[in-house]
Amino acid sequence: MKRLARGDLLPKILTPPPGPRARRLSRSLARAEAPGVNTLHDAAPTILWQEAKGANVLDVDGNRFLDLTSGFGVAAVGHRHPRVVAAVRRQAGELLHGLGDVQAHPLRVRLAERLRRRVPVDDAQVYFAVSGADAVEIALKTVLLATGRPGILAFEPAYHGLTLGALHATSRPEFRRPFSRHLHSHLHRLPYGCRLGTIAQTLAGGDEIGAVILEPVVGREGVILPPPGWLRGLAALCHERGVLLVADEILTGFGRTGHWFAVDADGVRPDLVCCGKALGGGLPIAATVGRRGVLAAWERSGEALHTATFMAHPTACAAALAVLDILSGDKLPRRAARLGSRLERRLRDWPGTFSAVAAVRGRGLMWGVELASRADAAGICRAALGRGLLILAGGADGRVLQLLPPLTISERQLGHAVELIEELLVEF
Ligand SMILES: Cc1ncc(COP(=O)(O)O)c(C=O)c1O
Repeated sequence: MKRLARGDLLPKILTPPPGPRARRLSRSLARAEAPGVNTLHDAAPTILWQEAKGANVLDVDGNRFLDLTSGFGVAAVGHRHPRVVAAVRRQAGELLHGLGDVQAHPLRVRLAERLRRRVPVDDAQVYFAVSGADAVEIALKTVLLATGRPGILAFEPAYHGLTLGALHATSRPEFRRPFSRHLHSHLHRLPYGCRLGTIAQTLAGGDEIGAVILEPVVGREGVILPPPGWLRGLAALCHERGVLLVADEILTGFGRTGHWFAVDADGVRPDLVCCGKALGGGLPIAATVGRRGVLAAWERSGEALHTATFMAHPTACAAALAVLDILSGDKLPRRAARLGSRLERRLRDWPGTFSAVAAVRGRGLMWGVELASRADAAGICRAALGRGLLILAGGADGRVLQLLPPLTISERQLGHAVELIEELLVEF
């Protein structure tokens, strides 16, 4: 039985989360599932999601939350948007699975057409992927095929996914260290936002660098904005040196920052753009969109050199087409910009008002609240859960509260969430 009819409700806590059912299921999951991939062990049980709609999540104990994570940035159009659900239902009644890269289906064609027009890449073509990390793998393989150069310049901090190829570009030592013997030495790293002169020197240095990969706004690693003009300067530098520019818009794309893509704010048109998360409206689909001349490097043997059984899955394509319609029909990027400016006016006083807050930064509906310590951030997330707010902490040392609500969140819900966080900050 569905209990979240509308999705624009305020939180309601019936039993302190995690409730008894969540604790029971957590224990079962900890027995059945490999360690590491879940946080549901006895020491730190958490809630389990039963249902979600709009900006609301209902847990297995009947508690209702406001989701300030958008399910890792996926639910830009809100959870279980009726048009996404209808499109998936329609497609599931017709073709549930096809033949991947070998024989396409009509929605894959339509989605590729839509993406090549929408993503800010000149003369664009699309390479579909299953996950964000898969899209990054495609970008990195493209760079090697197109330039013949093994070197990649990435930044610190950066999160580009955890598959072995993407892990090269991801910066956090905890993710890299256990697999370091599998990581090659062609990865160069500089501080995010560093001087362009330093980047120019690195590009001119020993190892042949084929591409620069970056997040136009750093997401999971702490919501960090680039210095003004940096992206544009970097794009010009790459162009001048014949180095490809790869923008990882997996979190920032599709309206999150108040533009369709974060690079749009600087008028930058990268050679390759990685997309994922919000694109599928809840279904797994991702894509790397690149310049035709660059992607042409894949034309080799007639064999698909990078593919997956479920690539461009029919139901995910149906969902993605619905998401693109909703984003443009409801002008959600513009809405994110408008709500973001209002949020900024409220949040910018926080460092001066609350002793626990060290800094606040963001754009559109992507905000980071940096706290003094990891313990403070964990404490606020826990307390927020108890009051019905889902918030994740990020950043290399876990000190940054990430506020990433659905772009469809109601003003009443957003206002309520901000007031609740302020109440929690007073207590810290
Ligand atoms: C910027 C960025 N790139 C890549 C990824 C990896 O995407 P996925 O988890 O779908 O593999 C993420 C996920 O958080 C991300 O935020």
